Amino acid sequence: MTTTTGTTTTAAATAAAAATSAGAGAGGEGARVRALTTRYRTYLSKGRASLGEMFGGDVEDSSDGAWLQTAAGRRILNCGGYGVFLMGARHPRVLAEVRRQLETNPVATRLLLEPEVVDAAEALVAVAPAGLQKVHFAGGGAEAVEAAIKLARAQGRRHLVSMEGGYHGKTMGALSVTAKDTFQAPFQPLLPGVSRVPYGDAGALESVLARHEGEACVIVEPVQGEAGVIVPPAGYLHQVQQLCRRYGALFVLDEIQTGLGRLGHWWGADAEGVRPDVLLVGKALSGGIVPVSAMVATAEAFRPFDKDPFIHTSTFSCNPLAMAAAKGALAAIGEDRLVERAAELGQLLRSEIERIARHVLGDRVLEVRGAGLLIGIEFTVPGMAGDLLLELIGAGVLGNHSLNSATVMRLTPPAILTPTDVTFLLDAFERAARAVLN
Ligand SMILES: Cc1ncc(COP(=O)(O)O)c(C=O)c1O
Repeated sequence: MTTTTGTTTTAAATAAAAATSAGAGAGGEGARVRALTTRYRTYLSKGRASLGEMFGGDVEDSSDGAWLQTAAGRRILNCGGYGVFLMGARHPRVLAEVRRQLETNPVATRLLLEPEVVDAAEALVAVAPAGLQKVHFAGGGAEAVEAAIKLARAQGRRHLVSMEGGYHGKTMGALSVTAKDTFQAPFQPLLPGVSRVPYGDAGALESVLARHEGEACVIVEPVQGEAGVIVPPAGYLHQVQQLCRRYGALFVLDEIQTGLGRLGHWWGADAEGVRPDVLLVGKALSGGIVPVSAMVATAEAFRPFDKDPFIHTSTFSCNPLAMAAAKGALAAIGEDRLVERAAELGQLLRSEIERIARHVLGDRVLEVRGAGLLIGIEFTVPGMAGDLLLELIGAGVLGNHSLNSATVMRLTPPAILTPTDVTFLLDAFERAARAVLN
């Protein structure tokens, strides 16, 4: 991540100071953090250890709803987590499902029938755009992307079309359609037959599809999260759908970050009334408790996977514990009206954050944009996105950087924020914005 002053910023120092001064004795906690960092360096990676240090050396201890508690006793409002925590941490509905399953049958044999997986699939289909009715479950988001790529290939769609700035994960297939050269370069050659076109440009898409009639698979996000919250022009998804139909391409909509209410709709697809052939889901499907992702397809698109149960498998796919989490997450989103709350809260937060950002930072802010609770703040000053993220942590709010953009800081708050949480967030944002000017 880029900051204006490199990795040892004043903001990092502020965060570190806040971490220790709030804790139970700076000495004891400081020593514990140093030991933990050394073990990260020894057993995990130097890079990961440095990242932890850069973010002030806070140690996550526990989480509850919208809040994290650090080992030093700080409470941090979680508006980060890359979009996972739509319902906050340890939502009681998800916890209850997972606990029940943990005590009965957490991992199944995979030869006998097992009800949790059908319950989860049925619940997901019930909220998916009409016509999507077959589910393949996986673990992380990239695995769902892999499933979609293999599904496309199995039906002769061998030419992949992805979008500039698009992010779909980092396994070899997913990385082939993740449009960032620095992530791709060390691992070349990736999959052959991939075109990249500008996001939001239906004409560019058409010219590629016309050259690959009947053999293409288009993968696209409704709003590009990791590219820095890029919202396409109105009508774009509809054009993508039309072009896919016209040129016989498989239309894969990656809603791993945007789906399940994050945008203030159940799906980004809903905003334009499109129905992809394949929908990818992840992150919030976990309920923030057990990792799980899914590929949901029309019966027609799913055909190559329908008959042979061994064509694309993974040992822990469909494990009942993850299925229980998915079931709980889908129930919680519906019961707690989280989609509606994401829309309402998103509108309020976006306009307040824009007002504060413009007031404090003036033309250093290029744009505040987004949909629902996916909010991006783009800066004109290199490194300012990183600095603000660090200052925000110091002020008690966790945000996100953007993997495919150095100039955009993102906030992905949970849809369960109370009015007091909102006030805390906006105050912290204002303090952090003022601090980056020092
Ligand atoms: C749109 C999108 N697709 C795919 C992925 C990959 O998911 P994962 O990191 O769980 O593999 C992400 C992760 O950020 C994402 O935002």
